[in-house]
Amino acid sequence: MKVIFVKDYDEMSDKAYEFVVQAIEGSENPVVGLTTGGTPRGLMKRIVEGVNSKQIDVSNTTMLNLDEYIGPNEAVYSAKTYMYDNLYNLLETAPKNIFMPNGAAEDLDAEVQRYNEILAKHPRDIQICGLGTNGHIGANEPGTPFDSTTFIAQHTDATIASTMNEYGITREESPTEMLTQGFKEILESKHVVVFVSGSHKAEAVKAVIEGPVTTDWPATNFRDKDHVTFIIDEAAAALLNK
Ligand code: PGA
Repeated sequence: MKVIFVKDYDEMSDKAYEFVVQAIEGSENPVVGLTTGGTPRGLMKRIVEGVNSKQIDVSNTTMLNLDEYIGPNEAVYSAKTYMYDNLYNLLETAPKNIFMPNGAAEDLDAEVQRYNEILAKHPRDIQICGLGTNGHIGANEPGTPFDSTTFIAQHTDATIASTMNEYGITREESPTEMLTQGFKEILESKHVVVFVSGSHKAEAVKAVIEGPVTTDWPATNFRDKDHVTFIIDEAAAALLNK
């Protein structure tokens, strides 16, 4: 994997946006995999500005998501709510396709299959991922095998705490499961970008960059993957030796 060190959240968002633009400009029918949470808010803003100022044209671009919470589509925490509030409703030119897992599907096994078929038909040029404080990627939580495929994941307590914090909800209101791309689908993307900001991620960054490769820290799965780029800001890099 490659590692790019940046100063702060804004520089991290700029760099991630650059990679998204490269992917969009580098393909006739680009497919961009996005993600939700605190980390991508700056990236979403930049995509909105880029599209609405006509710096980038997304009319041929397919956009899809890394994962989705199991729960109502309109829940405050759903990836669908996030994507429409922060991106799709703000774009003056719509992307060619928007795909999301349906976290409210009655038959979740069938939904996993449906989403996997979408992924198979739309190979990603870029997949953006955040990094959990416990090293998770999507909802590939600690202990998940490195060859996981799209599945319904159970959140760890650390992830539930992050969700509560991000969306200002109680433990009872918080979703506990997620439909997530597995490592297999994530790594199928031509380029995988993991971006990380803030001191609360420093322990995870240290484990991922300097610790042993282990399913205890899921993102260590990327250590030997040349098409994965980490973008890490100073606060998140604070515990690294060099
Ligand atoms: P965050 O989440 O962007 O809200 O920190 C990242 C993640 O858990 O993948």
